[in-house]
Amino acid sequence: MKKIIAGNWKMNLDCKNSLILADKLNKILNIKKSRNEVIIFPDFSSLFLVSQAIKDGQIKFGSQDVAHKGLGAYTGEVSLESLKQLNCKYILIGHSERRQYFADNDLVADKLFNVIKNSKIKPILCIGESLAQRKKGETFKILEKQLKEAFSKLKTKDLENRNIVIAYEPIWAIGTGLVAEVEDVVKAHKKIKEIFSKMFRGSKIKQVKVLYGGSVNVDNFLNLQKLQEVDGLLIGGASLKAGDFLDIAYNF
Ligand code: 13P
Repeated sequence: MKKIIAGNWKMNLDCKNSLILADKLNKILNIKKSRNEVIIFPDFSSLFLVSQAIKDGQIKFGSQDVAHKGLGAYTGEVSLESLKQLNCKYILIGHSERRQYFADNDLVADKLFNVIKNSKIKPILCIGESLAQRKKGETFKILEKQLKEAFSKLKTKDLENRNIVIAYEPIWAIGTGLVAEVEDVVKAHKKIKEIFSKMFRGSKIKQVKVLYGGSVNVDNFLNLQKLQEVDGLLIGGASLKAGDFLDIAYNF
């Protein structure tokens, strides 16, 4: 199974610098290919420029979010229709920063429904517990709650022949330099797959991949690479440095 190395650029780069980084990564990956699927997630305003710059290249791009509804009166939103026209391959849904700052918890189910019902774009659903929840021993309970809520509007047959990607991103590990212990990552990834297969027992889902995200960098990614439960990485800070991101993309 091809693993995924995804770089979530968040709102760290402006259009100019997004284009420079995308172009650099694309040129290098076109010369020396990675065995992994390499995806970048620029901000909305850079998507068009980036999509043009990396057209037909090895690297793919995705969107950091999407509107919960189709075209209409939703000021400030970005439609699935536009993302399809840009040839976007992936969409992040429910990133913890969206849930925390933009009340996305209530929209995750609609966003996932919109993407799955109306496009072939692969959603990457982000889930993960906070430090307080972890300390209370509620990690698995939270993962189950988030998974059930996110898929609540979809039926088993909606997922037929779909690739589902879930990113386990413990909130306390995001941008903090704290990486989850490998045993905890293994347990969480196993649990996510178990909950998911119970939820959609008997369905003909093509593939379920679980990525890990949270302070992954050049110094720690090899610990995660050894784990067969980890189907890839969702990287924030370290994805902004071309050398570091490529090091991970080539060696994971
Ligand atoms: P960091 O790698 O900066 O911790 O961010 C992780 C993340 O949020 C990826 O979506």
